[in-house]
Amino acid sequence: MAATPDPAPLMPSDNESLTQIESQARSELDAVDDDDALERWRVSYLGRRGRLTLVLRGLTSLPLEERKSVGAQANRLKRELEAELQEKKARLGQSATEALIAERIDVTLPGPPLRAGRLHPTTQTLRDMLDCFVSMGFQVVEGPEIEWDHYNFEALRIPKDHPARDMWDTLWIDAQEESDRPMLLRTHTSPMQIRIMEQAQPPIRVVVPGKCYRYEATDPTHEWMMTQVEGLAVDEGISMADLKGTLADFAHRIFGPDRKVRFRCDYFPFVEPGMELRIDCFLCGGEGCRTCSRSGWIEILGAGMVHPEILESVGYDSERYTGFAFGMGVERIAMLRHGIDDIRLFYSNDLRFLDQF
Ligand code: PHE
Repeated sequence: MAATPDPAPLMPSDNESLTQIESQARSELDAVDDDDALERWRVSYLGRRGRLTLVLRGLTSLPLEERKSVGAQANRLKRELEAELQEKKARLGQSATEALIAERIDVTLPGPPLRAGRLHPTTQTLRDMLDCFVSMGFQVVEGPEIEWDHYNFEALRIPKDHPARDMWDTLWIDAQEESDRPMLLRTHTSPMQIRIMEQAQPPIRVVVPGKCYRYEATDPTHEWMMTQVEGLAVDEGISMADLKGTLADFAHRIFGPDRKVRFRCDYFPFVEPGMELRIDCFLCGGEGCRTCSRSGWIEILGAGMVHPEILESVGYDSERYTGFAFGMGVERIAMLRHGIDDIRLFYSNDLRFLDQF
């Protein structure tokens, strides 16, 4: 007998073997529950060396009669198993989709909470202040935070070594002795008075918001950076009454119509006369408390009539034109509006503070 290298193909001598293949194939297919197992099942029955394939290949060696009946049965089984294979494949695919659907994202569930951003309290108060002045006809202009000594001091009638320089402790960029045009971080927004008047002719009505810097130890009422709003109006016939009317109106719109306002003399080298504006203390109602240093009044700004020498220095005729100027701290106004007792809270970035506005 000659040995065959291939395993002998299954040669069903009768329908019994085909029936066996059929029932095994069906029960195994039944147990298949994923794509890999299905592929193994296909290879073992319908693959090139699959059990049914081998039966079909072996048909030629059968006697004619048997070949006919076994052949018909085997071909029927092949068609049926192929159909069942496709069916199973489709069902597996479907349950994979179902599994995906089961774990899909439920878009109707509420998402993780988003923290709403909001404007910084300084910005909120600044915008209210600017809205107020814009409605009175002022234009908003901005200027540089790094400034020449000239604009911050000299042109405002505060020469080097003048005692008034002590009113503004300065952060210098150049050592004053080493440069003939030293630069600094502006200590107030007043230098913009000069810059504007140098470039424009009256009538002028501007407000200038911006950051200012001071070389100061911080405490509840002092910060080394703060925001100011400067005001400047120059025209024919502008008087102290215009200044008082403008500022009283502003104070009533920001602090409420019942606030009392009071003007008192004060000194600033660039105005003559100079004054301060106070409002009655809303905490104690004028009785005197810690916030108003027991005076019953709280200072909110400095102001005055633009010094005639300054009008002349920018080329205006001081016989024809007069003007007023004022300057105030935005954080200070926000503190008074909201009852904030420490200016350092503004820029320490503590959300427990910022969330309240
Ligand atoms: N610039 C002054 C300050 O910062 C305030 C001021 C402005 C006073 C305009 C008078 C006129 O203290």
